[in-house]
Parts: sequence; structure tokens; C-alpha cells
Amino acid sequence: MTRFIYLDNAATSFPKPPRVIEAMTHFMTRVGANPGRSGHRKSVEAARTVARARKSLAAMFNIPDPDRIVFTMNVTEALNTVIYGFLNPGDHVITTSMEHNSVLRPLRHLETQGMITLSIAPCDIKGQLDPGTLMPLIRKNTALMVLNHASNVCGTIQDVKGVKHAIGHIPLLLDAAQTAGCLPIDVLDAGIDFLAFTGHKALLGPQGTGGLYVRKGLELRPLIRGGTGSVSEKEVQPDFFPDILESGTRNNVGIAGLGAAVDFILETGIEAIRDHEKALTRAFLSAIRDVPGITVYGPLDAEARTSTLSITFDSILPPGDRYDYGGCGAVNLELMEEEVYPAEAGKILSAGYDILVRTGLHCAPIAHKTLKTFPEGTVRISMGWFNTPEEMEITARAIRRIAARQQ
Ligand SMILES: Cc1ncc(COP(=O)(O)O)c(C=O)c1O
Repeated sequence: MTRFIYLDNAATSFPKPPRVIEAMTHFMTRVGANPGRSGHRKSVEAARTVARARKSLAAMFNIPDPDRIVFTMNVTEALNTVIYGFLNPGDHVITTSMEHNSVLRPLRHLETQGMITLSIAPCDIKGQLDPGTLMPLIRKNTALMVLNHASNVCGTIQDVKGVKHAIGHIPLLLDAAQTAGCLPIDVLDAGIDFLAFTGHKALLGPQGTGGLYVRKGLELRPLIRGGTGSVSEKEVQPDFFPDILESGTRNNVGIAGLGAAVDFILETGIEAIRDHEKALTRAFLSAIRDVPGITVYGPLDAEARTSTLSITFDSILPPGDRYDYGGCGAVNLELMEEEVYPAEAGKILSAGYDILVRTGLHCAPIAHKTLKTFPEGTVRISMGWFNTPEEMEITARAIRRIAARQQ
């Protein structure tokens, strides 16, 4: 296999820690049974595997009761579970102009059905939300605030505590798709009421895994109802966690892998992971920020962002924006004769250098409208725990060559 440089960790992380694959193989070959369904020892072992994963996730997010975590297919299902299961007709919801379609589409759906009203809090050109802008949006019937913890387009990290402080008693649903596993998250300290996460990105688990934490005292209508392996004598859905929201056999092979991934992260230390990703981001940003004809989006300070960043190869900048456009300020605003469109740059990186990135809108058109990169989008370079400084040097050199039209 030829050596490639994988920089698409915001879509899904790769590679995975070997123990993730081992845990999944072990479950498939040695455990195999359905947890919580049968009384035999293999079913009990399967149930223990799932319970261990729940416990590890609870430790990671400082969740007092692991049973308040339910496993889902991904963060999209977790977000939908809250949006469709918590909101009632006549409710008002606040969200931001940096959200993923996994938040906006269900919210827009309920809005077009006449179920809810929606306010979109505007973020600035670097994707940052000022919590102060939320106060005037709050109404008597505001029932939920939905916030993307960090942008999947440009890495901007939001001030979760500041947002919670601004909205007070209004429940906060945090979309931690891009932060669970690479940024410390403490649901109690930050006042997070619902935490939606996906297993296959920075949590380093397999695809088809994710989850939702629901603060005690908050009730949700399940998206689906069915067999849970518990209170089987009753024809109605159990009303206790996690069973109320976990109908049908879960992706238990995946959950075994996710549990191993979370244990890997806990042992490695989220701080160590964050430090590594910050160091990569700092080095990469300083290698590309002065390249003529490139704009970097999001904050230039590694502290204020994740290791996901977006660039464009610009020819023309919007009038008046010349010196404060995007994140880069004035350092790289030489005009080029021709723009290299994001899709074209992605193809050159892949075909010419075996550097794998994502281009386009990254399922977040509203974020691109905020960053002024709609409709072409950006070239997204998303680093992860397994990337190295050498890989980022090679990538920076490739980007310089593309910007200089040397390819
Ligand atoms: C911020 C954000 N929300 C939601 C999602 C959806 O993730 P999943 O496909 O795992 O449900 C993503 C993934 O790209 C994301 O980055």
C-alpha cells in the first residue's frame, strides 16, 4: 500500500487505535451474543461490554450517571432525538449561523411544518458567536438552544459556558461532533443539558456509533419504540434510561470498539491529544499563513480552534474586506491571476500528492455563508491524533506549490 496523508479526520478519523479493531474482533468472535436479551453467560458478557463503554464515556464527560447516556448510530440521530423528542408545538429555538445540516435540517423541517419558530444567532467572519447576542433573541417560549461546539468547517471553538450563562434556564443541546475526544468536555461544569456526540471522529471509534447524554430531570419522547430486553411483560415502552431511547439491537460490535477507543483516549489523556493537535495546527498555520493567494478561515490562534482548518486559493477578495478578510489579516493578500477552486485544489492534492482532504461545503452551507465562502466552499484540512509534523510540512509545501500554480 502506498503511503498517503490522511487529513480528513473531521469527516471520520483514520486510522483507529489497534485496540479498537481488536475489541470489535473479540466481540464478533468470542462474545457474539445480544446484550440484555438472554440470561446466558455470553449475553451477560455482551451487556458488560456495553456497560463498560457507557461508564468510560461518563468518565470522559463527567456524567454522574452512565445510564443517562444512550447509544445512537451517530450524532445526527442523537440531535434528531432531542429536536423531535423534546420540542412541542409553539416552541421557539435558538441556534447559530455556524451549524451543520444535522442541526439545521430537522429544525427547518419543524419550522416549515409550523411546529416551532427559529432564531439564528449570527457569528462573525471567523465563525465566533458572541454570547451577548443571544439575550435579545430569548423569548418567553424559547425551549432550546442548539450550539455547535466547534465548527466542522473552520475549527472555531464556541464559548459554551458563556452561552449557558447567557441563556440561563433554557436547555442547551451541544453538538460535540467535532470536539468529543479532542477537547475536554465537562457537562456539569459547562451546564450542558443534552450532549450529542459521534463515535467515529475524534473519539476514534468505528462508524455507526454515537450517543446522547440527557440531564436528569429532562424528558424525551423516543424517536422509535420497540424491544429493549427489559420489562417484556409490558406492551408500552419502558420509561427509564437508557432503555426508553434504546429500542432494538444496537450496533454492539461498534459499541465494543467505541468503548476501547474511549479507554485509549482516557489513558492517553485528552490534554495530551489536545496539545499534539495544537502543536500541529500552530506549525501548519505558520507554514501557510504567509503564502500569497491563500486565505485561512477561523481564528489563527491554536487555542481558539480545533485542528480542522479551511483555506481558499483566492483571486479576488470582496471590496472593503481586503485587510480583515477571513482569519489571515493582511499577510497573504497578493492577488492571483486565477483562482484555484476548492474542488480543483482537492483533486490536485489527491492525485498529485496523495494528500486526502475534503472540499466543498462540508454539509454546513450556513457556515459558509457566515465565512463568505458560499457556494464554492473551502479546502478543509483536518488533522488528528495520528498525524505527524512531517506530514504537515509535506502538506504545507504542496499548498505553496498549488498557490504558485506549480503543482
Ligand atoms: C458539527 C457536526 N455535526 C454533525 C455532524 C454529523 O455527524 P454524523 O454523520 O456522525 O452524524 C458532523 C459531521 O460531519 C459535524 O461535523
